[in-house]
Amino acid sequence: MASPQLVDRFGRVHDYLRISLTERCNLRCFYCMPECGIELRDNAVFMTEEETIGIAKIFTELGVKKIRLTGGEPLVKKNAHELILGMSSLPVKMAITSNGVLVDRFIQTFEKAGLKTINISLDSIDKYKFNEITRRDYHDRIINNIHLLLSKGFRVKLNAVVIRGVNEVEIPQFIELTKSFDLSVRFIEFMPFDGNQWNWDKMLSYKEIMEHVASAYDQDDVIRLNDEPNDTSKNYKIKGFKGSFGIISPVSSPFCESCNRLRLTADGRLKNCLFGQEEFNLLEPFRNGEDIKPIILNAVQAKHKERGGITALDHTFADQKWANRSMTTIGG
Ligand code: GTP
Ligand code: 5AD
Ligand code: SF4
Repeated sequence: MASPQLVDRFGRVHDYLRISLTERCNLRCFYCMPECGIELRDNAVFMTEEETIGIAKIFTELGVKKIRLTGGEPLVKKNAHELILGMSSLPVKMAITSNGVLVDRFIQTFEKAGLKTINISLDSIDKYKFNEITRRDYHDRIINNIHLLLSKGFRVKLNAVVIRGVNEVEIPQFIELTKSFDLSVRFIEFMPFDGNQWNWDKMLSYKEIMEHVASAYDQDDVIRLNDEPNDTSKNYKIKGFKGSFGIISPVSSPFCESCNRLRLTADGRLKNCLFGQEEFNLLEPFRNGEDIKPIILNAVQAKHKERGGITALDHTFADQKWANRSMTTIGG
């Protein structure tokens, strides 16, 4: 494999590509999808299965070693089975982030593709609250699918976006899941995106999330774990519990210094940061048979030091002029 070429001005090596397969989703989480939905666009603007794999291959030639498939919801993409299998022929570690609704239909595909870890977004253990957040009624199905994944030996990470007045009281209940299940729960600070009703007051910080942990568990029982390099989460475990939990704190304590991530949107645009305003069109030149490597290298060089150049992601953020996509069109 080629040596890493995707090194930015700050010495960060980019070997992790997140590919959004589709902007569509079978849930309607208020913090992710704008209430009015997203604009439905002609299919021709989105990468086909072959284009997705073709562009991904070019990234592997530049040193990408991990590809995560995201969405919207990646499993609603037409040909998702073929895409996952096709992608697994590339020399990368494959991963996926899903809302879990369709997982039961994909177990064999995941196994064939050699997927080992599946990240499932689940913001509430309470069925009624979950339905309120997602505006859909799939809670039972998702819980069954989480059990199915565990029974089949997949490593499962549960992602819960913590929003004040919505689900912060569930922090200990989520951690209790790790008592008998070997899974990792990650509490995520609520981040601002286009049309997602974010404001500073709705966000629980890392510190506040840890205060909820401290109110439920003895301090001596809360063990700080060693994080993996490039981990988004700071990880912990309750003494004697099978699983672990972590906190992803892009707002209060960003992890940009160790960022190794690039993002490819479903319409073939490269984003060098989740918060980046700049987008680099790869699909059009790829369709024209042009060499897209220089564009990728240029995008990496243009990457800002922190959060796409946003200096203050605090209570003043809502007043700032910031153009970014909705989360469902970036993929997290
Ligand atoms: P692992 O590879 O299993 O550690 O997963 P991950 O944390 O890289 O990805 P996942 O899709 O599970 O994302 C969990 C949360 O972390 C989501 O809310 C993402 O938006 C957020 N996240 C992931 N990568 C980044 C990143 O590069 N920057 C920021 N700010 N947030 C990120
Ligand atoms: N803030 C933090 N995380 C978010 N996600 C979606 N929207 C937001 C947001 N505004 C999470 C999803 C999923 C992951 C890809 O991103 O819940 O777990
Ligand atoms: Fe990387 Fe941007 Fe996320 Fe920071 S905010 S970790 S630079 S993608």
